[in-house]
Amino acid sequence: MKTAVSQSGIAELVRAGLSRKAKALPPWLFYDAAGSELFERITQLEAYYLTRKERQILLQHSGAIVDACVPETQWQVFELGAGSARKTAHLLRTALERQRCVEYHPLDISLDAMQNAVEYLAQELPAVKVCPEVTDYTQTQPRLPASDAGARKALLWMGSSLGNYEEAEAVAVLRRASAHFRAGDVLLLGVDLHPSEGSKQKQDLILAYDDAEGVTAAFNRNLLLRLNRELGADFRADQFEHRADWNEAAGRMEMHLVSRIRQRVYLAELEESFLFQAGESIHTESSYKPTVPQVQELLQQAGFPFVTAWMDPQRWFGVFLGRRCSRPADDPTSMQQ
Ligand SMILES: C[S@@+](CC[C@H](N)C(=O)[O-])C[C@H]1O[C@@H](n2cnc3c(N)ncnc32)[C@H](O)[C@@H]1O
Repeated sequence: MKTAVSQSGIAELVRAGLSRKAKALPPWLFYDAAGSELFERITQLEAYYLTRKERQILLQHSGAIVDACVPETQWQVFELGAGSARKTAHLLRTALERQRCVEYHPLDISLDAMQNAVEYLAQELPAVKVCPEVTDYTQTQPRLPASDAGARKALLWMGSSLGNYEEAEAVAVLRRASAHFRAGDVLLLGVDLHPSEGSKQKQDLILAYDDAEGVTAAFNRNLLLRLNRELGADFRADQFEHRADWNEAAGRMEMHLVSRIRQRVYLAELEESFLFQAGESIHTESSYKPTVPQVQELLQQAGFPFVTAWMDPQRWFGVFLGRRCSRPADDPTSMQQ
């Protein structure tokens, strides 16, 4: 497995992001070895309901989900940003129990996350054929399997990662990744829903992105430490405050790193320094929280008309299924809780 983005590629992205009037860095930069480990700790936090809710849905409905995805005996699963693959393992296990032949293609920009997933699956589900790919899914198409004769395909984008993208970007990622899919193949999206869909409060969102233990703050600041390690930057991470805001107008959570003081940061790799005013922020992540109709529209745009969805009883999180068809969109059928 090779790394996905070269050091010079990262350097140029950072130059562009820190040269903007409103400084911003792409969220995939979080995921070096330390960042992937910190994200795993986030998924175990009580406050980070996203993983817990999605896992509950997958555990409770794995039989129905697998049956809806794969009526045939062979299943090829492609997962964007698979991370440690712990949640997806529930679906893979259920598929194996139904005596299906399962091939799993996890894609991730983080080499460390992929190695973690591969080791875990080799131990827990050795019958699954795992074909990992370290890649940036915004730039490249997944490798085609050696053979796909008769196999039903599924594209998974879980953990509400689609929320990190503007709608048009998310659609472009999904279309590129599913370019070789045929009628009957499916798309499964795990989505953290807009608070208006259920009982979620603004405070639940804020706590999920700014937990009391400070793990998310460490995850956010690790981005600066990564730039110190990889690009010879001299960020003093403690001089940047972690901030998580709910942007009501845009319907998204935002994470920022806010400079506590006026300071200049030098990046040796770029031979350039960047000035931060006191209170100036680097926008490090957006997490859109779509409504159910917005997810259905996204499925449609991606070429997988909505079929069904499974949600937790409080409607905080949903797992949505769309199916590619040669005829116009299927009617929305049901919403299961
Ligand atoms: C929020 S985590 C979700 C992990 C896992 N799917 C889950 O639900 O727990 C996002 C994952 O996507 C990966 N990732 C983020 N941007 C990516 C990109 N552009 N290309 C490939 N992987 C990416 C990260 O390395 C990380 O493992």
